[in-house]
Amino acid sequence: MVGDDSGSVRDDTSLLERMIERLVTQRACLDQAADLVARLTGPVVELGLGKGRTYDHLRRLLPHREILVFDRQIHAPKAYLPDRADLYLGDFRDTVRAAIERLRGKVVLLHADIGSTDRERDRELVDEIAPLIDELMCDHGIVVTDRDMRRTHWESLPLPSAAGNWTYFMYRVKKADG
Ligand SMILES: C[S@@+](CC[C@H](N)C(=O)[O-])C[C@H]1O[C@@H](n2cnc3c(N)ncnc32)[C@H](O)[C@@H]1O
Repeated sequence: MVGDDSGSVRDDTSLLERMIERLVTQRACLDQAADLVARLTGPVVELGLGKGRTYDHLRRLLPHREILVFDRQIHAPKAYLPDRADLYLGDFRDTVRAAIERLRGKVVLLHADIGSTDRERDRELVDEIAPLIDELMCDHGIVVTDRDMRRTHWESLPLPSAAGNWTYFMYRVKKADG
């Protein structure tokens, strides 16, 4: 593994190399996830708009899907923002909960790119939002994420061979009643 996502710099890999591995991994996982959901009907969710890189990739991969985007603030250039109606601004704990009424059981693909350099804080965030994400997902929906979100009824999927040397996770959601 090249990095531990913690932001710490190791002697044997540069920040540039770490970023390349991360981006290659994200692209490979999102490409595969788009194929996996091709037969499912429903919207896509991007948790963590950031600079809009992965959102822009998703909307090009899935031009006919509704894509709902969540972040607490806007860092992305205007050209990489969704329509206002598809943008949830605020803490994930509040906004994902607020979206349940609109999206319950409908989401076919959710990408959560939410990690920070604070692993403990990330763990606490995941503990709070993973059950909310579970409520959004449809049966057989795919979750792609930079943080371990495993749940008993989610199947861990191997990363695609095109993924880089970077920690990422893919799950197929099996609804408890599905
Ligand atoms: C790693 S960046 C996302 C990068 C983005 N996917 C891209 O490709 O440009 C993580 C984003 O998650 C957001 N974020 C982290 N924790 C959050 C929280 N608790 N609520 C809302 N947004 C959060 C940050 O503001 C940041 O924009």
